[in-house]
Amino acid sequence: MYSEKVMDHFKNPRNVGEIPDADGVGEVGNPVCGDTTKIYLKIEENIINDIKFKTFGCGAAIASSSMLTEMAKGKTIEEALQITDQAVADMLDGLPPQKMHCSNMAADAMHKAIENYRLKKEALTKIV
Ligand code: FES
Repeated sequence: MYSEKVMDHFKNPRNVGEIPDADGVGEVGNPVCGDTTKIYLKIEENIINDIKFKTFGCGAAIASSSMLTEMAKGKTIEEALQITDQAVADMLDGLPPQKMHCSNMAADAMHKAIENYRLKKEALTKIV
């Protein structure tokens, strides 16, 4: 039912945890089941140097978050913004149709974290 990649990322999720001094944080809830994903970013010179996640959800959601972090690490903000929920699901070699909604949090949470980073940066520029 699940691809080998989904099982691998579910059993050995990459980049789990928090970044206490994150430059950007984004959280989304899944309207279908109520599960949540939070993404933490460390950004330096427009590059995502570090990314971590905390997902309260099913195996497919954890695998999607894990895959997303691997796809986004080392990317520029602009490149990371191109990563979609569908791209994450594709990189996992797909998800069963009834679990597709579980892949709808990771990229969205990262986009929100980038937005959060940009807002913080903008606020700092105004202060200085
Ligand atoms: Fe909630 Fe999968 S059942 S994210």
